[in-house]
Amino acid sequence: MADAHHNGPILIAGGRVIDPANGRDGAFDVLIADGLVKAVDRSIPADGLDQTARVIDASGLVVSPGFIDIHVHLREPGYEYKETIATGAEAAARGGFTTICAMPNTDPAIDNAAVVDYIANRAAGAPARVRAIGCVTKGRKGRELADMEELITAGVVAFSDDGDPVYDAGLMRLALTYSRDLGVPISNHCEDHELCPGGVMSEGWVSSRLGLAGIPAVAEEAMVARDISLTELTGGRLHLAHLSTAGSVAMVRQAKERGIAVTAEVCPHHLMLTEAWALGGKGDPNVAAGPMAYDTHTKVYPPLRSNADVAACVAGLADGTIDCVATDHAPHERVSKECTYHEAAFGISVLETALGTLMSTVHSGSISLPTLVERLTTGPARVMGNGFAQYASLTPGTPADLVLFDPDAGWTVDVNKFASMGRNTPLDGVTLRGRVGATVVGGRIVFEEPTVLNKGDVA
Ligand code: DOR
Repeated sequence: MADAHHNGPILIAGGRVIDPANGRDGAFDVLIADGLVKAVDRSIPADGLDQTARVIDASGLVVSPGFIDIHVHLREPGYEYKETIATGAEAAARGGFTTICAMPNTDPAIDNAAVVDYIANRAAGAPARVRAIGCVTKGRKGRELADMEELITAGVVAFSDDGDPVYDAGLMRLALTYSRDLGVPISNHCEDHELCPGGVMSEGWVSSRLGLAGIPAVAEEAMVARDISLTELTGGRLHLAHLSTAGSVAMVRQAKERGIAVTAEVCPHHLMLTEAWALGGKGDPNVAAGPMAYDTHTKVYPPLRSNADVAACVAGLADGTIDCVATDHAPHERVSKECTYHEAAFGISVLETALGTLMSTVHSGSISLPTLVERLTTGPARVMGNGFAQYASLTPGTPADLVLFDPDAGWTVDVNKFASMGRNTPLDGVTLRGRVGATVVGGRIVFEEPTVLNKGDVA
C-alpha cells in the first residue's frame, strides 16, 4: 500500500544507486524533500532530518530513476471497459514506471487539443505522470495529416498511428519533415498488413502447426527499410516502435553506423517469449497442449517470434542499437481473449510484469543491470527529448521520480492481483525474478510492497 499521506522528507539509505545520467553505480544514500532529489551521497545521517522524515532501509535493493515508458495503451477515452487512465497509471506505479506516454488509438483518437486536455485532466493526481501521444493522421485513418502544431501546443510528446502503421509513404515523408522542425519524434508501428493478410502470429513452424495465417518478418522489415530511407531523405525524427525481428535490428544498426538519426524500442515480451508460447505450454513445445491447444494471451502485434529474433533483440538492446525498452502495455477485457486464436484481440498487459521479464536478460548474463536501467530511464528520455531528461536522473534539484527494486526477488505472476484491468498475459502463473519495492513520483510514495521493502524499514 502506498504511503500517500507522507509528504515529509524521505531518506533512502544503503541501496545500490544506479543513475546512468550521472554515471553512478554504487552504495549511496538518497535524500528527497519538497518533491525533489536533494542529495545523493555516500552517507547522509538521519539524525539531522526533521521529525516527519521517513527513513527507508534500501539495503539489498537497487535505487534508480523511475522507469519511463514511451508506449502504453490506456484506452481512455472510449474503451474504459479495458483500462482507464487511473487503473493504467496504478499499474505503472506497481511496475516502477513513473512516466508513461499514452498511444492515441482511443475513441475519439488523440488528434485534436480537446482530447489531449481531457487526458491531462483525467490524469491529474494519478500515481504516474501521463503524457499523450498525438495521431500522425486524422482519426488514425491514414489519409490526411493531423494538425501537428495544434497537438504540440496542447502538449503531445510524440506522434503515432500505433495499432496501425502510417501506410502512405508520402504522408510519412511529410510527417517526418515536420517532425524535424517540431523537434518531436514520429513513432511508427512498422507492419505492412498487405504482406500478412489475416496473419495472427509469426509465420513459421508454429503457425504451420496450428494452421493459422502467419505474419512474416518482412512485413515489419519492409516498412523499417522504407522509414529509414525516408529519414535519410528528410532528416526527420524517426522512432521505430516495438521491433521484433533480427532483420530490423540489423537495419537499425547499419542506419546508425551511417549516421542516420533513427531511434528504436523493444518490448519486454520480445526479449523473453518466442512463438512457441502460442502453443499453450508456456514456451515448452514438449508440454502436452491443453484443451485449447493454444494460448490467445500470446497474440500480439508484432507477434512473438523465433529464438534467433529474440537473441537479436536482446543483443540490440545490449549494444545500444535499440535505444530503450517500451512495454506496449495493451490491456484487453477477458472475453476478447476467451475465443479462438483467430478471433482474439492483439495485445498483452505488460506494465506489472515488465521488470521481472526484463531481468531474465540480466540473470542470463546477456545485459548488465546498469545497461538495463539505462534503457528504462535515460534511453527513453533521449528518444523523447523535450524535458524528459529531468525525470531520468537523480541529479539534485530534479523531480524525485524513483524506483526501488530487488533484482533477485522471485515472485509468481497472479493476474488477479493486477491493478490493470487487463489480465491478458501469457505470464500468469509464471515465476519471475526481479520485483519493485517502492515507486516515488514527485517525492510522493505512490506504491510500496512491504514484502520487498521489509529489509528493515526503520520508520
Ligand atoms: O498488440 C497490440 N495491441 N499491438 C499494437 O500495436 C496495438 C495494441 C492495442 O492497442 O491493443
